[in-house]
Amino acid sequence: MTLLNKWHAKNIRTGILLIGFMMLIAAGCKRADKTSQYTIGFSQCIGSDLWRRTMLDEMRMELSLHPDARFIYADADGNSSKQVEQVKKMLDDGVDLLIISPNEAQPLTGIVEQTYNKGIPVIVIDRKTSSALYTAYVGADNYQIGKMAGEYAGALLKGRGNVVEVMGLPGSSPAIERDRGFSDGLRKYTDINITDRIYGDWLKDSAKKQLTRIAPVIKNADVIFAHNDVMALGTREVLDKFKIHGTKVLGVDALPGHGGGLQMVASKTINASMLYPAGGKEAIMTAFRILNKESFARENLLQSVVIDSANVQLMKMQWSKISSQQKDIERQRSLLTEQREVYNSQQLVLNVIVMSLVLAIVFGGLAFYWLMENRKINKSLEAKNNEILQQRNQLIEMSAKAEVATEAKLQFFTNISHEFRTPLTLILSPVEDMMSNEKLNLVAGKSLKLIHKNVYRLLRLINQLIEYRKIEYDKQQINVSPNNIVEFAREIITSFQENAQKRNISLSLVSDEQQIIVWYDVNLLDKVFFNIIANALKFTSDNGRIQVSFKNRDNNSVDIAIQDNGIGMEPQDTTHVFEQFYQAENSSSGGSGLGLALSKEIVSLHHGSIEVKSKKWEGTTFTINLLLGNGHFDQTAQEHVNAKQTDLEERAKIYVTDLATPVSVADEGQIFGTPREQSILIIEDNKDLLSYLSEKLGATYEIFTADNGTSGLNETFERVPDLIISDVVLPGMSGKTLTVKLKTDVRTSHIPIILLTAQGSVEQQIDGITCMADAYIVKPFNFDYLLATVKNLIKSRATLKEHFTSDVSKSTVPVSKALDKKFLNDFAGIVEQNLANENFSVDEICKLIGVSRIQLYRKVKALLGCSISDYILNRRLKKAKYLLMNEGYPISEITYMVGFSTPNYFSTVFKAKYGCTPSEYKRKQQHS
Ligand code: FRU
Repeated sequence: MTLLNKWHAKNIRTGILLIGFMMLIAAGCKRADKTSQYTIGFSQCIGSDLWRRTMLDEMRMELSLHPDARFIYADADGNSSKQVEQVKKMLDDGVDLLIISPNEAQPLTGIVEQTYNKGIPVIVIDRKTSSALYTAYVGADNYQIGKMAGEYAGALLKGRGNVVEVMGLPGSSPAIERDRGFSDGLRKYTDINITDRIYGDWLKDSAKKQLTRIAPVIKNADVIFAHNDVMALGTREVLDKFKIHGTKVLGVDALPGHGGGLQMVASKTINASMLYPAGGKEAIMTAFRILNKESFARENLLQSVVIDSANVQLMKMQWSKISSQQKDIERQRSLLTEQREVYNSQQLVLNVIVMSLVLAIVFGGLAFYWLMENRKINKSLEAKNNEILQQRNQLIEMSAKAEVATEAKLQFFTNISHEFRTPLTLILSPVEDMMSNEKLNLVAGKSLKLIHKNVYRLLRLINQLIEYRKIEYDKQQINVSPNNIVEFAREIITSFQENAQKRNISLSLVSDEQQIIVWYDVNLLDKVFFNIIANALKFTSDNGRIQVSFKNRDNNSVDIAIQDNGIGMEPQDTTHVFEQFYQAENSSSGGSGLGLALSKEIVSLHHGSIEVKSKKWEGTTFTINLLLGNGHFDQTAQEHVNAKQTDLEERAKIYVTDLATPVSVADEGQIFGTPREQSILIIEDNKDLLSYLSEKLGATYEIFTADNGTSGLNETFERVPDLIISDVVLPGMSGKTLTVKLKTDVRTSHIPIILLTAQGSVEQQIDGITCMADAYIVKPFNFDYLLATVKNLIKSRATLKEHFTSDVSKSTVPVSKALDKKFLNDFAGIVEQNLANENFSVDEICKLIGVSRIQLYRKVKALLGCSISDYILNRRLKKAKYLLMNEGYPISEITYMVGFSTPNYFSTVFKAKYGCTPSEYKRKQQHS
C-alpha cells in the first residue's frame, strides 16, 4: 500500500467513526424516549354502561398527556372467570402496571394477589377484592354513599315510612358496602322499616324483574333506594307500570349527560342520586406516580354529594361548563398534538440538517486536508519526475557521447585492421617463400611454421573485425543466389578434414537429400560454417566426433546442425555466446569474441536463425535455420545472382592454419632428455606459447607443463617445482587464485611465481603482486627479460637457503615469507629435539609438520639446498663439535648425545666432515 493510500484509508476510517458516533448518539436519544414507554393494563368488569364508558373516557383523556405509554384494555362483560383469564393474558403480554375493577370480590382476589406478589403494581378501582394486597385504591367510599342515601331517605320520610333496597351484584364490594352504609344511615330512624332487599345485579332489567316479583311490597314502599341510577330508572318504570305514585326513588352515580343521573333528577324521573365519580382520571394519575416512583396515596377516596332537585340545576350548569371547558381543552390538546407533530417533523428536519452540516464540515475538512496532502505529494512527485527527467537526459547525452566514442574507436580499429592486413601479407609471402626453401627449413622450419600459423590467426581476427563492422555499420548488401547448401558445406568440411584426421576426430556430414537448394550469399555464409566448425574442432578433444547434419523442416526451411561432443559450455556462456566481444570465462580459445556474433549477423541477413544448445563436458550443438525459396529477400539482394564465390581454399586457410597442432621448435629429447638441477612449472592455455616457453626454458631447467589452473595446482603439489610461470587468464582457475592458494599452503609457499598476462595496466600489475606473485610480466614480453627474472628469483631462493643452512643462527637476510620461516623453524626445532635419537626418521618429521615425504624433501631442498639426512647429519656434527669444545663429556657419551650408534661410526663421519677425529679435535681445541 502506498503512503497516499494508507493516509486515505486512515481518514476514511476517521469519517466512518464519526458517523458511527453520531448514529450512536441518535440511537441513544431514542432509547431514552423508550424508557417512558410504560404499558398499563386496564381490566374492566363490564364496559357497556354509561358510567364505565365515562370512566374509560376519563382514563383516555388523561393518557393523552402520556403519548408514549401503551394502554391495554379488556372488558369482562360482567363475567368474573373471563376477567381472571383476561388479567392472566395481560400479565403474559407484560404490563408494567394493572388497573382493575373486579366484577366480584372473591373470584378476582387470587389473580390480583398474584399480580401484586409478582411485583407488578395493582390499582383497584371502584370495586375491591377480598384482600388488602393491592398497591392503591381509587373510588368513592361506598359505605359513605350508602350511609348518605340512608340519612337522605330518613330526612325525606321525616322518620317514618317503608323503604325497599335494590342492591347491586351479590359479592361485589360496592353492593355490600352501600348496603351496610344504607342500614347505618337509617339506624337512628326507628320508625323507618326496610321492608325488602332485592339484588338487581347493577342492571335495569334485573332490577325490574325482581321489583315486579315483590310488587305488593313496593306498593307500600315510601322510598326505594337503588344502588345505581340505572336500577333507579328501572324502579321508576316498574312503579309507573303498577301506577304507584308518590314513591320516592333514590339512585347512585349522578352521571352528567344524556341518560345520566343528573338528567333523571332534573326531569324528576328519580328524586335524588348520590354522586359517584368514575375516577378514571385519578386512576391514571396514580398509575404514573407509581411507575415514575413518585409519592402516591394508597387510598384515593373521591368526594361524593347528594344531587336532588335543590342542586341539580347548579350541577348541570357546572357540568356543562366543565364539559365545554373540557371540549376546549380537547381542541387545544388536538391543536397541541398537531403542533407537536409539526415540531417533531421540523425537529427531524433540523436534526438531519445539523447532522448533514456537521458531516459536511468534517468531510470538507478532510477533503481540504487531502487536497493539501495531495498537493504536497504531487509536488514531490513532480520534483522527482524532473530529477528523473534530468538524469534521463544526462544518460541520453552520455550514451550518445559513448556511442560516438565507441563508433570512433571501432572506426579506428577497423582502419588499423585494414592497415594490418598489408604488413601481414608482406610477412606471409616471405615466410611462405622461406618455408619452401629446404635449407632454411632445416635450420628454422619450425619457427617459420609458428610465424606462418600466427600470421593467419591475426588475419582471421582482423577479417572478422572488418566483416563485422561492414555488416553492422555499412549495412552490407548481401547478394543471394540459389546454391546446393549440402555441397557447399561438404567443401568447407573437406578443408578441415586433414586437421581432424590428425587428431583422430570424426568429422562427417549427414543429409537425407544430397541436394538442398537454398538462396544465400556464398561469400558470407561460408564464414558461418568455417567459424562454427573451427570452434567445434578447437573444443573437441582428440578421438572426438563432429557431425554436420541437414534436416528439412516442413518443406519450408532447412535446419543445419553442427554437433560436437567436446567440452561444452556453462549455461551462462550459452546465453551470451552470440554477443559481440563476449568471451567465456576462462576460455582458452584465444578468440576475439567476434566470430559467433558475426555468424549471427550473417544468418540474420539471410532472415534465418541460429541457436545453441550445450552441456558442460558433453558437447555443443549449433543449429542454423534457413528459409527455402527466395520470397524473403527483396529484389536488390537478388540482383547480383551471378556473384562468384571467392577462392574457398584460400579462405579456409585462415581458419584451418590456426587449428594446426602446436609447433615445437626443439625436439622432445632436447627439452626433457637431460635432467636439470632446477625445475619450472609452466601453466599456459595457449598451446603455442606453452610449447615456445617449454622449449626455450627447457635448455636450462627441467620443465613441467599444465594447460589450465586446476591441473597447474595439482602439478605443483606433485612436482614441487623450483619456480612457476603462469598465465593469469586460465580455464579452471585463474592464475591469481592459483597464486593465492599456493602461497598460503606450507607445502608450496616457498615456490616463486611469475604471472604472465596480457592485462598490462598498472592496477592489474599491482593486483598481481598483492596476490603474492613474485613477479608480473606483461605480454608481449621479451624472453631474455623473462629468463633474467627466472634466474633472479631462483638465485634469491638460494640466498634464503644459505641463510637457513649457515652456522650463524641470526642473519641480516630478511625472510619475507612468514610461512617459510615458520616451516624452517618447525623443521629445525624437531631436528634439534631429536638429535640424540638414533632411530629418528624423516617419516616422523612429515607426520609432525603435516606434509608428504616428497613435499618435505622438495621443500627442504628448495629452502636449504641439501637433503634432509644431510641436514640432520650436519646438525649432529655441529652439536658434537660444540660439546667437544665447551663441555667435559667423554667422547663415548657425546656419541650417544648426538644420535650415533657407535663411537667408531661417529669418529669416521666426524673425520670425513672436519678432517680429524673427535679426540684429535678436542685435543687441538684444548691446546689452542
Ligand atoms: C356501573 C355500576 C355503577 C355503580 C358501580 C358499582 O356498572 O353499576 O352504576 O355505581 O357500578 O360498582
